[in-house]
Amino acid sequence: MKQQIKKIAVITSGGDAPGMNAALRAVVRACSYYEIECIGFYRGYQGMIEGDYTVLDARSVKNIVGKGGTILKSARSDEFRTKAGRKKAYENLKKAKVDGLVLIGGDGTFTGGMVFNKEYNIPFIGIPGTIDNDIAGTNYTIGYDTALNTVVEAIDKIRDTASSHNRLFFVEVMGRDAGFIALNAGVGAGAEEILIPEENLGLDRLLESLKRSKRSGKSSSIVVVSEGDKIGKNVFELAEYVTENLPEYEARVSVLGHMQRGGNPSCFDRVLASRLGVKAVESLLDGKPNVMVGLINNKIVLTDIEKAIESEHEINRELLRISDILSI
Ligand code: F6P
Repeated sequence: MKQQIKKIAVITSGGDAPGMNAALRAVVRACSYYEIECIGFYRGYQGMIEGDYTVLDARSVKNIVGKGGTILKSARSDEFRTKAGRKKAYENLKKAKVDGLVLIGGDGTFTGGMVFNKEYNIPFIGIPGTIDNDIAGTNYTIGYDTALNTVVEAIDKIRDTASSHNRLFFVEVMGRDAGFIALNAGVGAGAEEILIPEENLGLDRLLESLKRSKRSGKSSSIVVVSEGDKIGKNVFELAEYVTENLPEYEARVSVLGHMQRGGNPSCFDRVLASRLGVKAVESLLDGKPNVMVGLINNKIVLTDIEKAIESEHEINRELLRISDILSI
């Protein structure tokens, strides 16, 4: 294994996701294993700009494998979008004698890493951590599985009320411009309809489907709405529109919000984070930088960072068909 890298800095950046701590632990412990120094900047790129970091050794990441959030904290740094901000970050990295970076975050984090690398040529590896699962080059991002389980549990509970009161619930879930959470949690929780950005169901079809549900004897229904869906109305307007057109329905809206990002990571996310964290350090040491580590068909793969950012991670349209069949 090549050993040109002597000191690595790690950050967690963008929206926090369950499993980020497990990834951090894996990075830090792999550094210890390969006798590489490791430091962690707080609040993502913002900490790099401010020179705000801590030295991380194997013991400093004890008991965090199962903790949600990120002990390094996270931020979306506007200053890092500026040349002046990135220059400050570079100077702090030089001062701390950092010669490689591990960036745990989503596509915004990776875009920042790519721009920074083009300007200052500091090798980096991306580890995909976001509940949205909207990154190409991996079947799963860290945090997505936990968020799915959180959403399914929440919808199960909402269904108790929906069914007790014969109500129609619109449940808005996160995912930014991607429908992974909505689609998979929708199927998992047995939703009657799932609205995702990748497929515009259309208002007429939604009304038709809800009429059909009533006719088939359903007394309550759940519609999962992805926050980025393109139906043209927000979830509250949607509920209003439906009850105006179908007064037989008593509708309620439930926006799940940031509870979807919290909680202890699932075992799947912990194992994923552990595998990706170790591989990230090994790739830097092997002289294979500027890639993202991901999991495809249960194998760890490296994807060029530009490709990971620019390609689309496609949803599984088969699930839409399955949902249609099962919500009869
Ligand atoms: O990217 C994760 C995510 O939770 C998205 O699903 C959501 O659109 C966004 O972050 C919310 O960001 P913030 O926490 O800044 O409101």
